[in-house]
Amino acid sequence: MIKFVIGGNWKMKKGIAESIQSAKKLVEIVKDYKNVEIFISPSYTSLVDLGKIFNGTNVKLAAQNMSQFDSGAYTGEISPIWLLEAGCKYVILGHSERRRIYNESSELINLKVIKALEKGLKVVLCIGETAKERINGSKEKINEDQLKISLKEISTNQMKDIIIAYEPVWAINSRGLNPVGEIRPATPQEAEEMHVFLRDWLTENYGEIGKNIPIQYGGSVKPLNCEELFKIKDINGGLVGGASLNPLNFSEIIGVASKIIK
Ligand code: PGA
Repeated sequence: MIKFVIGGNWKMKKGIAESIQSAKKLVEIVKDYKNVEIFISPSYTSLVDLGKIFNGTNVKLAAQNMSQFDSGAYTGEISPIWLLEAGCKYVILGHSERRRIYNESSELINLKVIKALEKGLKVVLCIGETAKERINGSKEKINEDQLKISLKEISTNQMKDIIIAYEPVWAINSRGLNPVGEIRPATPQEAEEMHVFLRDWLTENYGEIGKNIPIQYGGSVKPLNCEELFKIKDINGGLVGGASLNPLNFSEIIGVASKIIK
């Protein structure tokens, strides 16, 4: 059975005090959901505190990005070693906001994926096409290229520590990426079509292991639309931004997932 994974990406939306408050509330209300893997990626400055709060609970700590280097003269960067020290189990890499706003290329993301796996962090690798790329018919090629380049040199066995997050850029509730008013979740049909494509690609390239790599859907996932998305065979979880900020909304999403585990 493929592991079902629900992640909350708090982006740059909560400071330390607020993160601590939300994390404490969250561990309390999701403690009985044992069949879903849950992670939260807070701000870097909250990682240490949240690592302590999540320790021994069923909520895992994730980082939103990391450096491709261990240490050195890299002003402003965060070492994967420090993420481990803080208690991180996961790191999100290649989020569209990193790719599009901060110009991170798939080649750079590949170096980060290699480093994260070498250090023992599990990787949530985000991919996804823009609205323009979808309209001009290149969505498959864009997603395939992002996968191919970001996963270069990664062995089949290492793929056991990878989760793919398919996040169509146009569906992400992000003003940095999308004009207000043009953001909408993928319809179940649109999501299913791409998840089947991604599952086929993973199976073709990594065989049996490829069949079991979780593929999360991300982009405007909410308590109201998550059930129809999570019911789709090749959707194995969600990467949730806005709706993860409120612990009650997020736990509602986890509750829905927990009931429909395939
Ligand atoms: P959203 O963000 O749920 O607010 O659309 C998802 C993401 O960026 O991971």
